[in-house]
Amino acid sequence: MKLFTTIFYLIMFLASLLSYCLFKKDKRRHKQTARLPPGSMGWPCIGETLQMYSQDPNIFFASKQKRYGDIFKTRILGYPCVMLASPEAARFVLVTHPHLFKPTYPKSKENLIGPSALFFHQGNYHARMRKLVQTSFSPEASRKLITDIENIAISSLESWSNGQVINTFLQMKKFAFEVGVLSIFGHLEKKYTQELKENYSILEKGYNCFPTSLPGTAYHKALMARRRLNRIIGEIVQERKEKKWLASNLLGQLLNFRDEMGNTLSDEQISDNIIGVLFAAQDTTASVLTWILKYLHDDPKLLDFVKAEQKAICESENGEERGLTWSKTRQMPLTYRIILETLRKASIISFTFREATVDVEYEGYLIPKGWKVMPLFRNIHHNPEFFTDPGIFDPFRFENPPKPNTYMPFGNGIHACPGNELAKVEMLVLLHHMLTKYRWELVGSTNFIQYSPFPIPEHGLQARFKKEI
Ligand code: HEM
Repeated sequence: MKLFTTIFYLIMFLASLLSYCLFKKDKRRHKQTARLPPGSMGWPCIGETLQMYSQDPNIFFASKQKRYGDIFKTRILGYPCVMLASPEAARFVLVTHPHLFKPTYPKSKENLIGPSALFFHQGNYHARMRKLVQTSFSPEASRKLITDIENIAISSLESWSNGQVINTFLQMKKFAFEVGVLSIFGHLEKKYTQELKENYSILEKGYNCFPTSLPGTAYHKALMARRRLNRIIGEIVQERKEKKWLASNLLGQLLNFRDEMGNTLSDEQISDNIIGVLFAAQDTTASVLTWILKYLHDDPKLLDFVKAEQKAICESENGEERGLTWSKTRQMPLTYRIILETLRKASIISFTFREATVDVEYEGYLIPKGWKVMPLFRNIHHNPEFFTDPGIFDPFRFENPPKPNTYMPFGNGIHACPGNELAKVEMLVLLHHMLTKYRWELVGSTNFIQYSPFPIPEHGLQARFKKEI
């Protein structure tokens, strides 16, 4: 028996030694063959941050792609980065090898949103949270919200049409915030909505500011507002628990959650995921809606076509079936294609960030561990190989589906947007009412782009709304 054990350990030892040697050899080969992608790292430390931010970042990316090809290196904000401008490379990172790349955000931003929000995570915790979020924003769940979204759209449009010039982006943000609150909490007392709105707006003002905890700075105020948001959400949670009001909306899903050991989520996990979803839902949807208004305004013929499509929906309504339904939102092919084309042309999320968790070899290039990796959605959406005349706003191009993996306005893979159905439905509902009952004119210059941080038309697209009937 003793001899058997000794032989066994000897075999194990030799096997380990052999695999260690093979591993070393493989690593050496990897280091010898794979090289860093082409590109320039710019100045020490700051790299090419100034070049990127002193011009339109899209021009920066496009000129790099022209010079170096679809995979190139640079240094932004002190981090070495590999940028990926081909659908295959984006798919490699986001879909087929997501385990080699983790989501990465600056700690200061993580602290404001809340470190337990799902998009900061990988693995088991991410998968669990994602399932809850996906269920809450599934087409099935969005369908039930149509009438409430419609009411929010009607009252928003009403409030814009008093003859005053509005900042379209800011008004769209209010609309998207209210829909976000509705989809997270269901019906919520006015006082809570108001408190959430006030504190959330302080929080977002600090999000892109220099992160210092010095009292009086925007970042410090944002941190304080974040604490108050925890308290407000805590009160709502308490109330819902006492009333045993556990609906299928996101809050209900988070409160009902039990893992295999029967553990529930902590208050912090609930709060962070709620703020995370609000954050993901608001500016994105609002920027896209703002661009739709601009593109339609700039193309009067298209505007007439889409108005006709929407008016036909009203005319088909009989006495009992007033108001929008899910099936009516499915009968708006041109409006839907205008949304798809806006998502492509404006590409408000121009790229995303990941970080290599190990040395990765892709197409003969080495992506070293710790480097940031950026799939460039905008470059792919503006590549004439995939979208003919990419600078032209042409919703009819979506009469044919885009080539696989070339259209990613909602991302791709395990972190792809779980709110995309809700986003599309709320846009369709707002556009229906806007196109059938209102007209708008733009005020002042609208030709430049401002970054907020998403690209939007300058001054948020100043506009004057008038009711047509
Ligand atoms: C037109 C509007 C929207 C656009 C363009 C958009 C775009 C995106 C993109 C590109 C991602 C992936 C980011 C990455 O891979 O790093 C994402 C993730 C996410 N989005 Fe959206 N989004 C929109 C609206 C919404 C809405 C309305 C909600 C919620 C109601 C939402 C919730 C989320 C969440 C929670 C994630 C993180 C998912 C994860 O990490 O698993 N989004 N979104």
